[in-house]
Amino acid sequence: MKAGFVQFAPEFGKVDVNIEKALSLMEKADADLIVLPEFFNTGYLFISAQEASSLAEEIPSGKTSLALISLARKKKIHIVAGIAEVSAGKLYNSAVLISPSGHIATYRKIHLFNEEKLWFQPGDQGFAVYDIGSSKIGMMICFDWYFPESARILALKGADIICHPANLVLPYCQDAMITRCLENRIYVITANRTGVEQRDGRKWRYTGKSQITSPDARILYRADEENDEVGVAEINVQLARNKRLNKYNDLFDDRRVELYQDLVQ
Ligand code: ACM
Repeated sequence: MKAGFVQFAPEFGKVDVNIEKALSLMEKADADLIVLPEFFNTGYLFISAQEASSLAEEIPSGKTSLALISLARKKKIHIVAGIAEVSAGKLYNSAVLISPSGHIATYRKIHLFNEEKLWFQPGDQGFAVYDIGSSKIGMMICFDWYFPESARILALKGADIICHPANLVLPYCQDAMITRCLENRIYVITANRTGVEQRDGRKWRYTGKSQITSPDARILYRADEENDEVGVAEINVQLARNKRLNKYNDLFDDRRVELYQDLVQ
């Protein structure tokens, strides 16, 4: 199978413009699975809960989900995309998984970054893996990468590929993903955004360099820092399913969970 990302610079609050931009970039992608950035339709730098609420959408009845569902049906692809979700009056930083036949799942970001904690609720449903036929995929969002448990749990649940919508501002993630992939023998597709947002005295620059990283620690694709880009790579799920390093070592069987109890205190 082929999987990849779309990288661009969403314009804050211009949902229709951002949806159109993402759709037109996805139209060009020759891939079975495409990952879009975190908050791809709204932009990132909210300055109040009220503002986040005014831009958040219900999933899957909101216009962003509907636009993605329509494209997924037309192109017969799967899409993972980050959007602000409102559900029962609460706001979440979420990612949707959309198939050619509609919405499959929503992941709500578990580890909120910085002021996200002021506007959003932390995810309440854990990490899950979905069999989409060509592969098994899991989702995490941006800062979740900083917690190795996120990728580990998804890998232990059988993920071949972690779809990772992001709005990265720190310089570490892309390199750290090499280790995440190596220690779990999985693929990660980090779909980052580019550009600068300047709002209410804050100025954030996003790092681009969206990346597809392989189970054997290779960077299959790394985008540049600034430009719109569609990156696609061939995915070999058998590579992700083989956790064996040599005759004597298997990365998962060799874990000494009886000695890891301190991890869950
Ligand atoms: C982030 O979690 N958006 C840095």
